[in-house]
Amino acid sequence: MTKRKAFIIGSPISHSLSPQLHGFWLRQYGIDGSYEAFDIKPDYLHKVIKKLANDGYVGGNITIPHKEKAMMICDEIDEIAQNIGAINTLSFREGRIFGSNTDGFGFLENVKENVSRETFSVNQGRAMVLGAGGAARAIIYSLKSAGYEVTLCNRTQENAEKLAAEFDCGVTSWDSRNNLITYNMLVNTTSLGMLHNDPLNIDLSTLPQSAIVCDIVYNPLETELLVQAKMRGLQIIDGLGMLLYQAIPGFELWFGKRPEVTSELREHMIRCLNMKLFHQS
Ligand code: ATR
Repeated sequence: MTKRKAFIIGSPISHSLSPQLHGFWLRQYGIDGSYEAFDIKPDYLHKVIKKLANDGYVGGNITIPHKEKAMMICDEIDEIAQNIGAINTLSFREGRIFGSNTDGFGFLENVKENVSRETFSVNQGRAMVLGAGGAARAIIYSLKSAGYEVTLCNRTQENAEKLAAEFDCGVTSWDSRNNLITYNMLVNTTSLGMLHNDPLNIDLSTLPQSAIVCDIVYNPLETELLVQAKMRGLQIIDGLGMLLYQAIPGFELWFGKRPEVTSELREHMIRCLNMKLFHQS
């Protein structure tokens, strides 16, 4: 069989951990394949995707800032990606370009794998989602499809209201973000708490003891939000897990093997993350 080649396109791309992630699985399963990162500016996006398809690549990931624009080049987009309004995965088959979105799957799968069943109580699930940018869309979609009632809280309330109308969610003001008594999940989808950014200024003291606190930031892995949640004894979900789980469907599509998220993989990725942090600081 010929070597299978996949890619990730974004701009900037040097911070991405996806090459290390797919590289680990390719080595682990002894697959003759590659996964390369390309830094491509928006003006060249469609040209480059077409070229990669013509050059025999099997597909790849699309990341910031291209997740919406890349939809326009697809011949077919699956229902989930259409609902989310963005794609993160492409596959090239029989001369056609297929787009899908695995971010919501990655978010939910990571939560399900890492909290107890009782905690993941979708029947009375009430989630507060902080942020209303691109990253929030897939998470809101996945929480809604798992049966959660979702309330959005964003600095610019107008942005939260637009998303809330699209996904049928409630909205609360940014100033009331400390009022968490009625929620059993809190998710940060903003970039607050990321290295070199402001911290997320929130007080978790009203959050019930059974609540799960998730952060999509993985740089650093333990954000101030998660440290605060841990101190209160709440279950926490860090952003690295979402990255690992969202990659499963893509790897399977391109390389023909459903990969597993193991503690070995996680440890490897934490080492890679620490190396990147070391070079950035
Ligand atoms: P993306 O669209 O890629 O998710 P983004 O444009 O950086 O990323 O914005 C993500 C979210 O972080 C937005 O909801 C943004 O709030 P606004 O809609 O008010 O812009 C939120 N965000 C970014 N910086 C923030 C800050 N300093 N305080 C509060 N929220 C912030």
